[in-house]
Amino acid sequence: MMTAEEVAAIGARAEAMLTELAAISAEPKRLIRLYLTPEHRRAADLVGAWMREAGMTITEDALGTVRGHWRPELNKRLLVGSHIDTVIDAGKYDGPLGVVAGILAVRALAARNAALPFGIDVLAFGDEEGSRFRTTLSSSAACAGIFDCASLAIADADGVTFADALRDYGKDPDGIAAAAYDASNVVGYVEVHIEQGPVLEAKNLPLGVVSGIIGQSRIGVVARGEAGHAGTVPMHLRRDALAGVAEFMTAVETIARKHAGDSMVATVGRIEAFPGATNVIPGRVVFSLDIRSATDAVREEAIQEMKAAAVRIAKPRGLYIDFEPAHATRTTGCTPFLQDVMADAIASLGYQPFRLASGAGHDALSMAKLCPIAMLFVRCRGGISHNPAEFASEADMGLSVAALVRFIEILAAKGAA
Ligand code: GLV
Ligand code: MN
Ligand code: MN
Repeated sequence: MMTAEEVAAIGARAEAMLTELAAISAEPKRLIRLYLTPEHRRAADLVGAWMREAGMTITEDALGTVRGHWRPELNKRLLVGSHIDTVIDAGKYDGPLGVVAGILAVRALAARNAALPFGIDVLAFGDEEGSRFRTTLSSSAACAGIFDCASLAIADADGVTFADALRDYGKDPDGIAAAAYDASNVVGYVEVHIEQGPVLEAKNLPLGVVSGIIGQSRIGVVARGEAGHAGTVPMHLRRDALAGVAEFMTAVETIARKHAGDSMVATVGRIEAFPGATNVIPGRVVFSLDIRSATDAVREEAIQEMKAAAVRIAKPRGLYIDFEPAHATRTTGCTPFLQDVMADAIASLGYQPFRLASGAGHDALSMAKLCPIAMLFVRCRGGISHNPAEFASEADMGLSVAALVRFIEILAAKGAA
């Protein structure tokens, strides 16, 4: 068991590492680290250096996931991971904390020369957020053997396809199949992540056991009308795509609110009107739709309701609204056995092992297709995330590493391999 001083020192070290990573950004004033960019390369190299320092050997797979291998001679592997890509104007904890926690846990185990029946791979995934391409969780999907090769044709905002971006990054798309783990060698996957919500803070608890991850659908939507002169076309003769989308967005909000009992949330997070001039009626609008709900059937039904609303709104306005599904995941429970191991780990540190569901998506969702999964949530201030104000304390992060080490030790003691 770690001493309080050791836990505090690890928390301080985690904060220092996260600060160093957060300095790697496409812009000086905002944290933006997109998949397969020069920033991704620099972050991957930094993470690789930390892994080496902690006693791991490094490989990188065809999607750029950095893999630190501790005790590579053992066939059985426990996977510990999270992502190093960010949203636009991100905080520094979402994703990187899970990678840093994995590295620090291995460092602690190596320092005491822990004898485990399995080796550990720490995985730093590059595409969890889907901020560059419309994909999300593609790095972990490759590790889980469920990567969808059709996504290689998807282009980013500059028209660069996923496949070309991979090649520019020095990767061979033909190697993706080989990135999959052999399930028979994998003990499980565990991910430490900030909660990104207010529940642990309200409970006054530093850590929580994740019971499951809520399903989500991401859809690209295009509304088409007709561009025209803002000064000459009377209101009743317009086919204003943006005005129609505004009406559609309020319909989306109404539908999501109706299903609040199933924890439904729906968000239009990105929207662009074309041609995009003050004195031109918008002829085309492209926007994203992100829908999440506890029950898959309720989410799917709501999407049908939203499509029906789009037809109803578009028709009298002379618009066409097309939906292009980009990504969908089903609500996925964390493996009961590993939830219990995580609960024991938290309890062994003297804290109540509270269980809560995740409204955010995580790489664990992909990994659940490969192996048993567990997640540990860390309290974050005000529940704020996907925002530069995101914050987790050094003390809580130190505890999360201590809990991860206990999780690994308890799992080993139960003869998991
Ligand atoms: C990932 O951060 C998500 O959007 O849930
Ligand atoms: Mn995340
Ligand atoms: Mn995120």
